[in-house]
Parts: sequence; structure tokens; C-alpha cells
Amino acid sequence: MAEAQRHPFLHGLSKHRGAPPTVVVIFGASGDLTARKLIPAVYNLGVDNLLPTDFHLVGYGRKEISDDEFRTLAADAIKEFSRRELNPGVWDRIAANTTYVAGGYDDADAFKRLAAHIGDIEARVGRDVQALFYVSTPPSVFAPILKNLGAAGLAHKHLAHPHHAKVIIEKPFGRDLASARGLNGTIRSVFEEHQVYRIDHYLGKETVQDLLVQRFSNAIFEPLWNRNYIDSVQITVAEEVGVGTRGGYYEQSGCLRDMIQNHTMQLLALTAMEPPVSLDAESIRNEKVKLLKAIQPLRLGPDGDVARAQYSAGMIGGKPAQGYLEEEGIAATSKTETYAALRLSINNWRWQGVPFYLRSGKRMARRVSEIAINFRRPPGTLFAESEKFNLAGNTLAFQIQPDEGMSLILNAKVPGLETRTQPVKMNFRYATTFGSNTPEAYERLVLDAMIGDGTLFIRGDEAETSWKLCTPLLESWAAAGRDGMDQYPAGSWGPGSAAALLAKNNHHWRQP
Ligand code: BG6
Repeated sequence: MAEAQRHPFLHGLSKHRGAPPTVVVIFGASGDLTARKLIPAVYNLGVDNLLPTDFHLVGYGRKEISDDEFRTLAADAIKEFSRRELNPGVWDRIAANTTYVAGGYDDADAFKRLAAHIGDIEARVGRDVQALFYVSTPPSVFAPILKNLGAAGLAHKHLAHPHHAKVIIEKPFGRDLASARGLNGTIRSVFEEHQVYRIDHYLGKETVQDLLVQRFSNAIFEPLWNRNYIDSVQITVAEEVGVGTRGGYYEQSGCLRDMIQNHTMQLLALTAMEPPVSLDAESIRNEKVKLLKAIQPLRLGPDGDVARAQYSAGMIGGKPAQGYLEEEGIAATSKTETYAALRLSINNWRWQGVPFYLRSGKRMARRVSEIAINFRRPPGTLFAESEKFNLAGNTLAFQIQPDEGMSLILNAKVPGLETRTQPVKMNFRYATTFGSNTPEAYERLVLDAMIGDGTLFIRGDEAETSWKLCTPLLESWAAAGRDGMDQYPAGSWGPGSAAALLAKNNHHWRQP
């Protein structure tokens, strides 16, 4: 049995007891993600007493810095980005086992030094130590890192042992189907699939995990969760931020690659997949792949299933915001979309005929991610829509972030002697019910990788299936250049072409 299968999803707080002595090696140690997310995640696991007793952190990067300098960088990152303040007692314990190895990513000798360094740690601990390699670098060096881990004998470390070496790969996982296949090929030439943890940090979000709990632990949803009762589904991942200083990266990426192919498709897969036979990693991932495979190829062209746009100048939070083409590092002729909307059809028994609308964009009216399930309207025999009967369709909305929660729109009688109706909203908010001390996605993901639970990571075939759907669209956009590129003012809910996409089916976008 693969190791991941022994650690079913949701096995609760006892999980840290399963984490063996571990050394986490971060490639890209002085990078932005390391400072913003990874170091704070490790630190917060320490605060919650979820790190194994023998825990070691090794930064690896091209910069020639000392162990002490790396510890200072890490402490500064915690002060700036951690959700909880730096507690010297906790940090000192982690810092005492924090070291740095300087080396190039294509430098085989440096990887031998890394192997020796891990060997020294193991000698000090006095027993086998699991190595977890976190590849948090630009994708151009993924392949040399993987190959050098293999050549230095690190990939197969303790392979026969349950606590063998593991590798976490950050996004982007390829930029189209061919490159994702190529990357999977490189990974498999060095690691076995059960050693590999492909990150999509949306899966680490509490509300995304709660989606599974809501769907499969409440009996009221399943009978309604199909084309007989559901009219359409809208998945929105809207951001208020623009490209900021990431113009160089974003120009090569765009919304479809940056957000839709991964985060939004994952939300779709969890919303629409069949109930898995159990909550272990393979069962859940099998269902996600089956669902992704049932999505019909997108119809391209002007009357097709897609819209794309760039933000133009507008207002954000009452302040003027410049357009995408004026941003730093962006070509005036850029053909990179900052917004994309898709209408997807899922060709299976459950969803035949139910449109799934996906949209994501930068510089939208506000930051909000939600999944809205719109139910069919009841027959209008009793309450036909009129001035007296202000009726809404029922909508169940999972608010992924911010202000995490769930709401249900129902129609209710307005109190009074006359029968009038009005839509009302039932609300559940995490912060109100559970308080607001929610772990960050990366805390959950680093912990899960340490204990060998792959449920919240992407399997190789899953990444490829999603790319298979998106690649023809990317190719058609590349061929069309700026033809068909719409615009939307910064601070708005998106372009007219996206509204038109829904209008064809008499639908309209929600304003969450
Ligand atoms: C990243 C994208 O994967 O997700 C960014 O590269 C985006 O462009 C970010 O801003 C959004 O993540 P979150 O967790 O803030 O919704």
C-alpha cells in the first residue's frame, strides 16, 4: 500500500505524532515565497507543537550567506509575514536546527555537499531522518534540481522505509500540456509518484477542505447535487491586486495559466466530482481526474465558451489605478489576459446540461473567491413573480475567502397580514462560530507532506488532464494575438464579453 493511503484525509490532530524526524530543505531559500509563506508556515507549526521532535530546516540557494545570516532572514520573515508574532522561545528552538547550504542548482558537487550535510544531521540525531525537498524556485531550474537530487542519491534515500525522501514542487507545473508532460517525465526519472507532492495552495485553504466535509457529511446535499435540481454553478476567484512588481512573470503567464488551470479547476473538481469510495488520497484524486476528463473540449472563437480581457485604468478602493498596459514591465502591445471566463460542460450522468461558469481576474471590484450553486426555480403555480412576490432562485454559496463561510438564499414571507415574499440569506461565518485563528494553507500542506498525506496535492495525471483542457485555448489565444481581447476598468466586475457569455443561457454573474 502506498504510504499516502495510510494517512487518510481528516485524520485530525493526532497527525503530528506520525511525523518522523525530518529535515526540510528549501530550494530558493532567499525567494519571496520562502519569506512570505514557507518560513512562517514552519514557524506556526512550531507554535502549535506540530513539528517532529527532531526537526531541521536547511535553506539552499545561490546566495553565499552564512547559517546566521539565513537565520536572521528567517526571523525577519516571521516578524513581517507570520499570522502570529515571533515567540522567541519557539523560534530559538527552530533556529538552533536551522542551517544554510550555498550552491548552484546545476552544480552536482554542491548537491554532494548537501547530501553530506544531511548525513551529518542524521548522525547527530542518531537515527534515520526523512528528507523533504521543497522546490520553491523559478520553473527553469526545476529539472536540474530534480536531476541533481537523483545523482546525489538523495531521491532514493530510505526508499524502502515509510519515511523516505519526498519532494514538493511549487507551481507553475508546466505552461501547457507538453511542458507538464515533460516535467512529469523528469520527476518520474528520479522519484516515484508516491514521493511527489505537487502544490496547489488552494487545496490547503480551510474552506476548500470544508467543501468536502459539507458535501459528504451532510445528507441534505447529495440528493440535490445534480442536474435535476441544479441550474448552474459559478466559480469566482477575484483579486483586487494588480500585477504589482510581478509583471515579468505575469506577462509570460496570464490568468488562464496563473489561476484557472490550477486553483479554479481544483475548486471545480471538488465541487462536481462523484463521492469517493473513501477519504484517502488516491480515492479522492481518482474522482477528481474522472471529473476533469468528463469536461468537454472548449468551443473556441468569437461565439465560443470563453472570454478574456485586460484591465484598463479605473478606481480601486477610491484611488485611481492604472491599466495593465501601463504597469511596470508590461509591453504596450501585450496579449496577456488578466481576466478569463469559461463556460464548461461536464458530460456525465450527474451534470449533463448544467453550465459551470469559471472566472478569475486581477484588479476586480474586490477580493473574493466563492463557489455558488444556483438551484432550479420551483414551478410558478403558487407564487408567480410579481410585485408582491419578489422571488430569488435558491443559491448556496461557499465563500472560500475572505470572510470565510457559507450562505443560502431562500425566499421568506415578509411579516404582515398580506402575503408578500422576499429573498433572505442564511449565513454561517467561520470567524463567528470558530474564532479567527485559522491556519494558513501552507501550514497544512507542509505538515501533510511531512506525514506523507498526498490528499491535498495534485497527482501527475491530474495536472496533465487540466492542461489538456486549457492548452487548445492557450494556443488559439496565442494565434489570435490581441484580436478578441476585451477590457474592463480596474475595480469593476469584469468585461462585457464575460457577461455576454452567460447571457446566451439567460444567466448573469453574481456580485459576491
Ligand atoms: C498564486 C498566483 O498562485 O495565487 C497569484 O500566482 C495570485 O497571481 C495568488 O495572486 C492568489 O492566492 P490567494 O491565496 O491570495 O488567493
